Amino acid sequence: MNKLFTTLSALAVASVTAYAFAQAPAASAPKAAQPAAAASALKAAAAPASPKSMEAKIAMCIGCHGIKGYQSSFPEIHKVPMISGQSAKYIVSALNAYKNGDRKHPTMRGIAASLTDQDMTDIANFYAAQATKAPESQPAPQGKVAELFTKGNCVACHGKNLSTPIDPSYPKIGGQHADYMFVALKAYKTENNPAIGRNNGVMGAIAKQFTNAELKALANYAASLEGEMTVHPEPRFR
Ligand code: HEC
Ligand code: HEC
Repeated sequence: MNKLFTTLSALAVASVTAYAFAQAPAASAPKAAQPAAAASALKAAAAPASPKSMEAKIAMCIGCHGIKGYQSSFPEIHKVPMISGQSAKYIVSALNAYKNGDRKHPTMRGIAASLTDQDMTDIANFYAAQATKAPESQPAPQGKVAELFTKGNCVACHGKNLSTPIDPSYPKIGGQHADYMFVALKAYKTENNPAIGRNNGVMGAIAKQFTNAELKALANYAASLEGEMTVHPEPRFR
């Protein structure tokens, strides 16, 4: 979309230039001006897109991820995940999973397909830098929920307070929206659906050990923690 816009702007600039030449006295307007301007516009269109500003790169993302309480209605109503403060490597990994189809969410697939590797890296670094500091000591899960966490060994990978994953390509989940995590956990169990599901060897095997009610309890506890992620509305870009 941005590429198309850049191309159209280049063409618009070119025709304005050509128009200016047409208005100028014959002596200062060489006959070649118009074709030359058109040729350079075509050259600009064929050349790789010039480095986009960060603002342009995240313009589309803000429309969903930058609105507090913004909800998605697919495959059921849930809040759009927080990505401000998420680990950069995980953001890139998730975007690639949408791009290559391991994650089937149709809207995010379309969006990820439009991003280059460089876009993904830039966007991920931008969002990762917005991490806030979560308190060190937070309430441990109790009773039945504690048993579920032990059974799934969740802390072994997602780390202390579920906010310090052992590998930067694993997500922080502490404080993430409960309804989103419930949908995500169910997606790891979903197979043979073209529009819903996440192929992931690790989380697939884990999610399948739990009933949906148990997944909901796990998501609710993880969401109750104070995490490092926020919704960042980016007012300066509006
Ligand atoms: C139309 C709304 C919408 C727009 C626009 C949008 N997203 Fe998303 N995004 C979502 C939803 C909904 C999900 C959850 C999808 C799922 O269930 O897998 C999501 C998921 C994600 C995830 C995975 C989060 C996680 O915790 O696993 C990342 C990363 C992400 N989006 C990045 C982006 C980036 C970067 C942009 C802009 C280039 C963007 N999104 C634009 C709605 C949107
Ligand atoms: C062996 C390591 C490991 C263990 C154990 C583990 N996870 Fe994960 N988890 C991951 C990885 C890796 C991902 C990212 C998968 C992907 O790319 O979709 C993930 C993704 C998730 C997500 C989706 C996050 C998002 O933003 O979309 C949730 C929610 C989650 N895990 C919860 C849990 C819970 C609850 C448990 C315990 C029952 C658990 N995990 C155990 C490694 C693990």
